Amino acid sequence: MKKHYQFENDVEKILFSEEEIAERLSVLAEKIDKDYFGKRPLMVCVLKGSVLFFTDLIREITLPVEIDFMSISSYGAGATTSGEVKVLKDLDNRLDGRDVIIVEDIVDSGFTLNYMTKLLSSRNPASIKVCALLDKPSRRKVDIKADYIGFEVGNEFVIGYGLDYAQKYRNLPYIGILKRSVYEK
Ligand code: PRP
Repeated sequence: MKKHYQFENDVEKILFSEEEIAERLSVLAEKIDKDYFGKRPLMVCVLKGSVLFFTDLIREITLPVEIDFMSISSYGAGATTSGEVKVLKDLDNRLDGRDVIIVEDIVDSGFTLNYMTKLLSSRNPASIKVCALLDKPSRRKVDIKADYIGFEVGNEFVIGYGLDYAQKYRNLPYIGILKRSVYEK
């Protein structure tokens, strides 16, 4: 039976269901399995937004991956991006000679990804690719694109499956659109 979340009235509509997400993840994982065959990529989870996507994705990948975590922040508590990027927690691993896959929940302005790829590229990896669950090209401020993309979304406020508004909604198992009345009040 489906759970009813206590804050679900804030959701305008479901954009991608649990089932749709699971199906898309298995396609992405198959591509990654093929592209990195015989390799041992280091998968980097960008906290906190990508945590659900990351844990589900790595379980679909059959390669002997390693995992690491980085915490980065570009937003305040509000709905707009400032362009300011801060590293709150750096990786534990060295990247020399590693095949790195950055796993992001969403590419919006592109500031975070641009900053991450530049920073990690300077650490001498063999390769860097990006896997993003969501791509919101209409909001892009930096010319950057993920190598693997789950879904493209319009200019809507998406929450759930790791994505938040003011730290809320991350535990929803699907991706939904947040009601305007929630963030415009
Ligand atoms: C969000 C999201 C991406 C970034 C995308 O992170 O997880 O990392 O913003 O936006 P951009 O393309 O405009 O840079 P946020 O800083 O909100 O932290 P969170 O992952 O902890 O929610």
